[in-house]
Amino acid sequence: MIARPSSSVTARVGILGGGQLGMMLAGSLYKLGADVALYDPDPHAPARRRYAHVTTAAWTDRAALARFFSEVDVVTYEFENVDATVITELAGSIPFRPGLSVLTTTQDRLAEKRLCRAHGLPHARFEAASCADELREVGRAFGLPFIVKTARGGYDGKGQARVVDEASLDRAAAQLFADGAARRSLILEEIVPFTMEASCIVARDAAGRAEVFPVFENHHERHVLDWTLVPARLPPAVADAAREIALDAARAMDVVGLLTTELFVAQAGAGGRTVGEHAIFVNEFAPRPHNSGHVTRTATTLSQFDALARILCELPLSSPRLLNDGAFVMGNLLGDLWLERGAPHLAFEEWARHPEVLDVVLYGKHEARPGRKMGHFVAHAPDPSQAIDAVAAFRRALGQAHPAG
Ligand SMILES: Nc1ncnc2c1ncn2[C@@H]1O[C@H](COP(=O)(O)OP(=O)(O)O)[C@@H](O)[C@H]1O
Ligand SMILES: [Mg+2]
Repeated sequence: MIARPSSSVTARVGILGGGQLGMMLAGSLYKLGADVALYDPDPHAPARRRYAHVTTAAWTDRAALARFFSEVDVVTYEFENVDATVITELAGSIPFRPGLSVLTTTQDRLAEKRLCRAHGLPHARFEAASCADELREVGRAFGLPFIVKTARGGYDGKGQARVVDEASLDRAAAQLFADGAARRSLILEEIVPFTMEASCIVARDAAGRAEVFPVFENHHERHVLDWTLVPARLPPAVADAAREIALDAARAMDVVGLLTTELFVAQAGAGGRTVGEHAIFVNEFAPRPHNSGHVTRTATTLSQFDALARILCELPLSSPRLLNDGAFVMGNLLGDLWLERGAPHLAFEEWARHPEVLDVVLYGKHEARPGRKMGHFVAHAPDPSQAIDAVAAFRRALGQAHPAG
């Protein structure tokens, strides 16, 4: 008789963060028979609507975090801005994936760029500054124009400014210290004249075996990811080099889990790693499932969430290959679409006219806000330009003004 059938080595997984990424990871873990506990300070976190084991407590609540860690076999996170000081105390007791030093490196844009420098990964020229006066002084020596970012805590373009002249330098100094802080770690980066933004996800297990996803092409609007196209419109040698860089980064950080590398592709001659007529730069890393990786749920033989679930459960990976010829595209659905339509629901009846849209995912967020990621969809088309057109067409159809409003 089999006393307690178990299909995985590690059965209890803790996820820090109950947003859409944590929720979809939980879905992949449940498929493997794992138990999942989530932790999120937000009582309206999407995971709460769907899953029972959600702890609602602050990131700084040591007692709640200690209890959370004591009830699972392995912990991972969907959001790299969790407080590392508390986690450091707790992470010794059980595996913490993709790793504590991965977390502390990717929480700090300066640490990321220094890691790139140390491991020969191509990146934009950068410099550090830590107060408003230093920003002005270092900035002038660095040379205008540049982008200045807070080293910690920014996302979706928040906490960064473009400096092109003395006036914008003053504005940036005022803006980045508007909260009255005297000091704050900043990074100044040369502006990369990119022709494409891309990302590449690596899944790597505890034995160092790694799988590299196809390269995604990413398009941002107002600093928020708008669509992701796969395969990226790059010559094969450039895509291969991008995958090699992403793999090197995952190895350099000894990632056990997922690492997403955000990349810039520019024309050769602008620095970076030259491949033919192109040059590649690392922009930043995300040690977790990535918004651009939603496309893998529909486009590849292995999704980013299934890959991470397998690693957490110590199950073997398989190679993520594209499921079909042609192009897949993921379009984000932002809160603006609901606000413009002026109704609680989008016009999903229009989906009938869009057979190219294979999948729609809604995260169950209880309030639409401008720029807020509410869901996404994935479409397939014979070629990239048709795929990109499909994003705008489907959004237009979904967001039509509400008949009553
Ligand atoms: N050095 C740079 N050169 C050119 N564009 C940049 C640079 N750094 C950031 N950007 C632009 O700003 C966006 C957001 O910056 P990023 O560093 O990725 O921060 P976030 O954490 O907000 O995603 C990038 O996707 C890119 O469009
Ligand atoms: Mg980014």
